[in-house]
Amino acid sequence: MEAFIQVPLQSSFVQHNVKLNLRQPTLYAPRARVARSLTLRMRAWGLRPGGVEKFAEELVQTANKIASPGHGILAVDESTKTIGKRLSTIGVENTETNRRAYRELLFTCKGLGEYISGAILYEETLYQSTRDGRPFVDCLKNIGVIPGIKVDKGLAPLPGATLAHETWCTGLDGLSERAAAYYAQGARFAKWRAVIQIAPGGPTRQAVVENCYGLARYARTVQDQGLVPIIEPEVLLDGDHTIERCAEVQEEVYSILYNLCQQQGVFLEGSLLKPSMTLPGADSKQRVSPDTIAEMTIRTLERTIPAAVPGIMFLSGGMTEEEATVNLNALNNRPRKGPWSLSFSYGRALQQSCLKSWMGKDENVRAAQEALLARARANSKANLGKYVPGSEPTLDVTGTFEAGYKY
Ligand code: 13P
Repeated sequence: MEAFIQVPLQSSFVQHNVKLNLRQPTLYAPRARVARSLTLRMRAWGLRPGGVEKFAEELVQTANKIASPGHGILAVDESTKTIGKRLSTIGVENTETNRRAYRELLFTCKGLGEYISGAILYEETLYQSTRDGRPFVDCLKNIGVIPGIKVDKGLAPLPGATLAHETWCTGLDGLSERAAAYYAQGARFAKWRAVIQIAPGGPTRQAVVENCYGLARYARTVQDQGLVPIIEPEVLLDGDHTIERCAEVQEEVYSILYNLCQQQGVFLEGSLLKPSMTLPGADSKQRVSPDTIAEMTIRTLERTIPAAVPGIMFLSGGMTEEEATVNLNALNNRPRKGPWSLSFSYGRALQQSCLKSWMGKDENVRAAQEALLARARANSKANLGKYVPGSEPTLDVTGTFEAGYKY
């Protein structure tokens, strides 16, 4: 007689209704057959054992859904302190009620799922509900948006660094357990933001290696718990460097990063990259067109990012809403060899007009949602290379660049 064991139904098949040609696992299957099929699948993916094999197909599905054509990510994982800064610009106090009200406006925005495939949340938000008690996670699923979670614990000074401003990203302790709890709460992807700064004498190799090592360790750790890692090595806009220098640093960072990902057994098909575009520093006198930015960014990516990564979701880094959209559009209008989707995971460049339209007032909620939808639609078109500059409204004329930006 064959022994029967329970095989978990991979929830994304049910929840996200993704149409990939993957076989749905059966609820009960003979033990020998399950063991054999796991081994076969691991071999097919070339995975190193450790937990990731259980989630491999789900990870691929989630990553591909997030990077599907015409879609990108809404990054709303500002820490309590950072969202406080945003709210203060519209005269709203940083209380739990106000943070919840603002995020309720975002997550109940009908039609958002047409352009946005995932939303990155801060831990507090993942466990919050609407004023009338509907969990935010359910609201997001209702509008077709996959919930994600920021899992790093922020930047800290890098011990032994020769440059005082260099940092490393904390949060590996207890990450496995936290990731499992976030998965149980409904999150299906994660984000970890490491920061590299271009400055005289830097970035140092120590800072680059330490930050990339953390990203690789994080990525494999959350994959073992079923979360798609967004790998974010943010090369800051701070500085007066040229676009060529930015490209040089990014090439070094991404090459080291993917070498370490290979060492740590990261499953690239079930991961996403979140880089900055290749740009001159914020204080640089160099002026470059969106087309040059696109050319340099694609050159950098083609030299360093494996083809197995399904999506490259850029951060906005302080660009204005319109700049971030126009540059993304230019990127998608250049021929490239790289097969990835080039899309967005914008925080500031998706929220400025929305915040300014809201101003903390209930009667402005619909106007704020329209403003959000307009920028989401603009970036969706830019992902398809079809955005006409100026064709969607924006209230963000100055941009939000801030030296030494903390998220
Ligand atoms: P910005 O788009 O505001 O740069 O932020 C995105 C993000 O998630 C940074 O970690």
